[in-house]
Amino acid sequence: MVNTKVNLSGWEIDNPVIPASGTFGYGYEFADIYDINCLGSFSIKGTTLSPRFGNPTPRIAECQRGLINSVGLQNPGVEAVIAHELPELKKVFNKKVVANVSGFSIEEYAKTCAALDKEEQVAILEVNISCPNVHNGGMAFGTDPIAAAEVTAAVKEVTTKPVYMKLSPNVTDIVAIAKACEEAGADGISMINTLLGMRIDLGSRKSVVANKMGGFSGPAIFPVAVRMVYQVYEAVKVPIIGMGGISTAEDVIEMMLAGATAIEVGAANLVDPCACKDIITSLPAVMEKYKIKILSDIIGGAH
Ligand code: SIN
Repeated sequence: MVNTKVNLSGWEIDNPVIPASGTFGYGYEFADIYDINCLGSFSIKGTTLSPRFGNPTPRIAECQRGLINSVGLQNPGVEAVIAHELPELKKVFNKKVVANVSGFSIEEYAKTCAALDKEEQVAILEVNISCPNVHNGGMAFGTDPIAAAEVTAAVKEVTTKPVYMKLSPNVTDIVAIAKACEEAGADGISMINTLLGMRIDLGSRKSVVANKMGGFSGPAIFPVAVRMVYQVYEAVKVPIIGMGGISTAEDVIEMMLAGATAIEVGAANLVDPCACKDIITSLPAVMEKYKIKILSDIIGGAH
């Protein structure tokens, strides 16, 4: 019998597998497919202060071992998330969630987090300073250590819940950004968001996605994510939620050896809605294969 429990800032979850924001809706959409209570938790679709329609279509481009998305933070806004989405979820999911928050100004991040702070269903605020698909805000806050620290500090002021800053890989030095967030009070780091990418249609000679560029995710980015988690683990003391191309239980172990306490699964959910369930089911056998009895013992084990 193996132990798959992990602890994120005092919040113990049954296993480290969390569907990534934007790839699992508000969770209840999946309840007809399987009992989602097997998940460690999940990260809700990125929530902004006001409703957003998102980017023009097409928003998706297929790639080798991944895809590009340019959704543009489509969501109904924080009021509707609190009034409708979280109560719907509560009917089918008896665990707490990670609330992913985006914004276009520091004030907007703070207001959205303050609203979600009141929700007992929310265990952790995952503050997305790394969306590559919007033209102001989003990634702009996550590519500069000073701006990243300012968002962190502003959010910490309005909440007592743990704050995890979600970082962009589209930077020269992700360690500097992670350290700036930690120094500003972040309780954890979520990493990595998507890599800025582009596909061009040969016939039309135009970009495949209407917004020209988008975020590349999927198994192709896994080695980049492992490398970045490894580097950040050496530089910060706070827990890391690792993500980027995870699609198997072996990937989970590798990401944890790099330094992740928990992991998020993103693009794999879009290929197979049962991806997280399958990873959770196969995790104990893979742990046994590598002689791991207590999963949390391997965090940072590659260092
Ligand atoms: C999106 O909605 O555009 C994706 C969110 C993100 O990549 O942060």
